[in-house]
Amino acid sequence: MLPEGCDIMNAMSKKTVTKAVFPAAGLGTRFLPATKASPKEMLPIVDKPQIEYAVEEAVRCGIRDYIIITGKNKRAIEDHFDFVHELEDNLKSKGKQSLLEQVNRFSHHSFAYIRQGRPLGLGHAILCAKPCVNDETFAVLLSDDVIDPAYNLLREMIEHYERLQSPILALMEVSPEDTDKYGIVKAEPAGDGLYRIVDLVEKPKAGTAPSNLAIIGRYILTSDIFEHLEGLTPSSGGEIQLTDGIRSLLSTRQVYGCIVRGTRYDAGDKLGFLKATVELALKDSALKKPFRKYLIELTERIR
Ligand code: G1P
Repeated sequence: MLPEGCDIMNAMSKKTVTKAVFPAAGLGTRFLPATKASPKEMLPIVDKPQIEYAVEEAVRCGIRDYIIITGKNKRAIEDHFDFVHELEDNLKSKGKQSLLEQVNRFSHHSFAYIRQGRPLGLGHAILCAKPCVNDETFAVLLSDDVIDPAYNLLREMIEHYERLQSPILALMEVSPEDTDKYGIVKAEPAGDGLYRIVDLVEKPKAGTAPSNLAIIGRYILTSDIFEHLEGLTPSSGGEIQLTDGIRSLLSTRQVYGCIVRGTRYDAGDKLGFLKATVELALKDSALKKPFRKYLIELTERIR
C-alpha cells in the first residue's frame, strides 16, 4: 500500500492545461469575398465572431493564457479582444452597463499575438506558438469548428489529460465520402469513451482512409510536439501538417482520442456556418421565440 499523502504528491506532480493556442492565420478562401480584407475568424455567428466562441470555451475551462496565431489582415482580432475606451464613455453615458461589460469582458485576460509570416500550414502555425508555450501542455482550438456552448468538450479533454498525462485529440465519426476533408485516425477503443491512437493521416485520398474517425479542431498537446513539428517537410496540400507531427509523436508516447458527444458545426463551410447561425440563434434567449416563429412561417412558404 502507498504511504499516506502519496496520492496528494502524485496529484501535485500532475500537470494541467493553462494555455490555449488559436491558429487564425488562414486565408479564408471559402468565404471570399467576405474575407478579402477581414479575418474569417471575425465572421459573426448571431452576435459574436466565430473566434469568440472558441475563446469562451477556453475561458470556461480556466485557461489563463491565450495565444493567437495571426497573419496578414488579422488586426481586427487583436482589437476585438482589447479594451475599447471610446465605447466605454459612450455606453456609460447611455446607461448601457451590461453591454459595456459584454464588450470589454476579455480585456483582463492575457492575450499574445504571434504572426505566422507565411501560410505554411497548421503544423507550422502551432510551431510559431513555441516561444509562448515553452514546456507546458496546451490546448489548440480551431475556431471554424464551433462546439455548442452547452457542451463542454474541452473540459472533458482536459480531465482526460489530467488523468493520463498524454495528448488528447477530439474525434468524430464522419461519412466515408468526407474522410478526405479531415485528419483521420486508426484507433483502438481504450474504454471510457476514449480511443488509443495507432496511426493517423491527413486528408487521405478517397478509398484509402484507415477508418471514418476524423480529428475535430480541439487538441490537448504536450510540448514535445514541437520537436516533432520541427523536423517535418510539407505533405498534404503542400503544407506542414499538425497530423504529421502527432504521427511522429506516436513513436515516443501514447496519444488518445476523445469522441465528441455534443453538437459541432463546421463553420469553415458555408452550409455549416448557416446551420451554426440558425441553431445558435434558436438558443439565444432574446431571439429564440421570434426566430422560431419566423422559421416556421418560412418553412410553410418554401414547402
Ligand atoms: C484541420 C486539420 C485536420 C482536422 C480539421 C478539423 O484541417 O488539419 O486534421 O481534421 O482541421 O476541422 P483544415 O480544416 O484546417 O483543412
